[in-house]
Amino acid sequence: MGTRIVLLLLMFTTAWSETKAAGYVQCPQGWRRHQDTCHLFVTNHETWTEHMQHCVQLGAHLATINDEREDKYLEAEVHKRNASFWVGGTNMNNNKTWIWIEDNSPVHMGPCGTGHSYCAWNRGVPDNSHDNEHCLELNLRTHWNDNYCLVLQGAVCETKPKPEYHWITVG
Ligand SMILES: *[C@@H]1O[C@H](CO)[C@@H](O)[C@H](O)[C@H]1NC(C)=O
Ligand SMILES: *[C@@H]1O[C@H](CO)[C@@H](O)[C@H](O)[C@H]1NC(C)=O
Repeated sequence: MGTRIVLLLLMFTTAWSETKAAGYVQCPQGWRRHQDTCHLFVTNHETWTEHMQHCVQLGAHLATINDEREDKYLEAEVHKRNASFWVGGTNMNNNKTWIWIEDNSPVHMGPCGTGHSYCAWNRGVPDNSHDNEHCLELNLRTHWNDNYCLVLQGAVCETKPKPEYHWITVG
């Protein structure tokens, strides 16, 4: 009976940039790759907080929108799906400071198109209408909008591509 040795090869883990260039990184199955990011459009109709928790269970987080390319891509996907989707901005903790739930970094409040970080709030929002709107949605008609966090709709989860793993058996 031969000894069986199982080897786990991490492809190119020592050279991350090379890995990306060679395409040896992948999104989880069913997720869509856009540049350096994997997105999943979750179509279950749930509250912002429920989606936030489910993204974490998937090893991900509600989407942070970092730049215009990502934003335009997500906007097009939202239009394809003909519905509004939750993303990872909120000020539910203190009704004041908007943060990205991924890392608690501030959401740029505008004027959009200025400053280092990106935003694309629709005109006049966030307006905290009825003192009740603390979660960021990509609205089908108005794009970035603050909405009531208990609205039941889909959401966009986000994660990074992972290195490809290969199991090989020898012996
Ligand atoms: C988009 O959804 C609305 C209702 O939510 C529906 O009336 C409309 O027909 C849909 N449009 C397309 C192109 O599916
Ligand atoms: C939330 O902020 C708005 C606008 O600043 C304010 O009018 C409102 O009273 C605040 N609500 C709570 C619950 O703090």
